[in-house]
Amino acid sequence: MKKIGVLTGGGDCPGLNAVIRGVVKSASLKYNYEVVGFEEGFDGLVLPGKTRNLTPLNVRGILPIGGTILGTSNRANPFEYKVTIDGKSEVRDVSKDVIKKIQMMGLDALVVIGGDGSLKIAHELFKMGCPVVGVPKTIDNDIMATDVTFGFNTAVEIATEALDRLHTTAESHHRVMVVELMGRYAGWIALESGIAGGAAIILIPEIPFDISKVCQKINNRKKSGSNSTIVVVSEGAKPVGGGVSILCTSENGGSAERLGGIGNKVGADIGKCTDMEVRVTVLGHLQRGGSPCAFDRILSTRFGVAVVDLIADKRFGEMVCLKGQRIESIALSEAIKAQKRVPTEEGLVKTAESIGISFGR
Ligand code: F6P
Repeated sequence: MKKIGVLTGGGDCPGLNAVIRGVVKSASLKYNYEVVGFEEGFDGLVLPGKTRNLTPLNVRGILPIGGTILGTSNRANPFEYKVTIDGKSEVRDVSKDVIKKIQMMGLDALVVIGGDGSLKIAHELFKMGCPVVGVPKTIDNDIMATDVTFGFNTAVEIATEALDRLHTTAESHHRVMVVELMGRYAGWIALESGIAGGAAIILIPEIPFDISKVCQKINNRKKSGSNSTIVVVSEGAKPVGGGVSILCTSENGGSAERLGGIGNKVGADIGKCTDMEVRVTVLGHLQRGGSPCAFDRILSTRFGVAVVDLIADKRFGEMVCLKGQRIESIALSEAIKAQKRVPTEEGLVKTAESIGISFGR
């Protein structure tokens, strides 16, 4: 009987449990494989006592549940692992120990469910001989190799509902409501929820904005009788000639900087160049928590099943992806090459501009 491992790495995302369930059910029912779950992302591969057997029985009921039953970490990286020795912390490469552990456990394959950071680690482990397969995950939808990632549509639904709610209070008070949304260096969440939620202005990382154009739009709206305006700001948005707003760089050994604060800056600037009252909402992790929408449950299930098929076909070093309506696969080496960013001269941006939405350009 084959034995496969599974872990969830990076930030949590609606649909992770649905992937785990898909993997476990398909591995067990279709192939009669055993499944071991590693807890807390790559920590589970490094630290002792962080494994658990996964069976169709113990993944029962997790399909609609947010987060990940295995836990996750966006800090644990076996190639740069933080250890504390005699009270001093240092960074070590423990990847060889991880490979040994996988061999000792008799694993025939390892499923890594993660975003670009985790998939890069998966690819490095594959290059060292580990039979890895990947599942792309992120609410940001910024992985080029797949048309869409699970979690993204749920985040868009949550943000759209927030915008609907902010409309009513904005209209009642004749206010400008600025809403900062997640997405890192890609504006997909802001763009899609901004259009779906009827925003008048959407600021995304791919289109540096001119604050005077933003204010002009708000003032023109007021002149033509619109007494309230919804401004969606992606956390990675930046002014022309300016930089991204960073809350803090690498936190507690984490490798990535935390973005945020641009919503408040834009709000303060709008307050200065219009005579309207402004309020700022930072939606934050509400976009990532809770139950996945139906689309994400289905995509996660398809990815979970397809990644086990990859293992059965011995297609190690590959990742499942969605192309049109089909689930396909791509080499991890290709998948980690580029980030998917919003095209600025076609598609949804042009659709939005055609109905008068401003990107501050
Ligand atoms: O990548 C997903 C994401 O939610 C980004 O949109 C956001 O910038 C980041 O993770 C937040 O990370 P953390 O949960 O570590 O604050």
